[in-house]
Amino acid sequence: MQSVLIPHGPEAASVAQLSWIMFGGATLIFLLVMATLIVAGIGTSRWRSIVASDRFIMWSGVLIPIVVLTGLLTYGLILTGTRTASASPDALHVEITGEQWWWRIRYAPGTEEEVETANEIRVPIGRDVELRLVSRDVIHSFWVPNLAGKIDMIPGKVNRLRLHASQAGTYRGQCAEFCGGPHALMAFHVVAMEPDAFEAWLANERSPVPASAATAAGRAVFFKSGCQGCHTVRGTEANGTIGPDLTHVAGRTSLGAAILPNDTESFRRWVRENQHLKPGNRMPSFGFLEPGDLDLLASWLGSLN
Ligand code: CUA
Repeated sequence: MQSVLIPHGPEAASVAQLSWIMFGGATLIFLLVMATLIVAGIGTSRWRSIVASDRFIMWSGVLIPIVVLTGLLTYGLILTGTRTASASPDALHVEITGEQWWWRIRYAPGTEEEVETANEIRVPIGRDVELRLVSRDVIHSFWVPNLAGKIDMIPGKVNRLRLHASQAGTYRGQCAEFCGGPHALMAFHVVAMEPDAFEAWLANERSPVPASAATAAGRAVFFKSGCQGCHTVRGTEANGTIGPDLTHVAGRTSLGAAILPNDTESFRRWVRENQHLKPGNRMPSFGFLEPGDLDLLASWLGSLN
């Protein structure tokens, strides 16, 4: 359940706390205003003269709002300040680039250990994660409500956000700023894992794909169709950087930026009719592929674990 009110980490918990304070405060103020309205309409003349007095208007219309709004602003700034501050020294560093209309994910950006994936952020539980958020085209906004706050990804600017998962699980996130056509279909998952399982996953992500005779025909369809112009598959000659890195695409929780389940049928559908599934996305539909070639390609992609 993608919800601000069901936090699974300290950053999200502070946002949930602020939300409850605002819901409570807004309800109280609403009830007070309604009560004043009723008094002004049908109250006794004594009560009506009280709510009509300069003193009442000055207090409830000017002074109390100044105090309440100033307090709320200060509290909000303190809360969001800690959320975006630099994480602890042993934090995991992940760079996320907003792209129309998917997420490029880099672990250990700018180091020898750098590894790229897409549309799925795996994190170890119990450890701070510092996200470096950038955009390559237009403004996007990173939001995974159960785990962290929300922040825009602005071209030419680096924004940071701290994320910390205290419970293993899969949490859905999405782009929260209209960024063109299929904006509503720009989602992702954060998978919080036990630290050992996370390290094993990361080591596997770094490895290239093994050459397998069983899937050579599917791989040949990939190159014959020109997929390497946009996609990288480490361990092959495919080194395109326009679209998502597909090296371990079959190991992800979903396809097409969290819009399809990850199975062979979805690979087939995505290649054949992605413009129908996600209208306007940057990849053309390969509806012209022979059914046999499509099956071979889908099964090769489905083998990239
Ligand atoms: Cu990216 Cu909306």
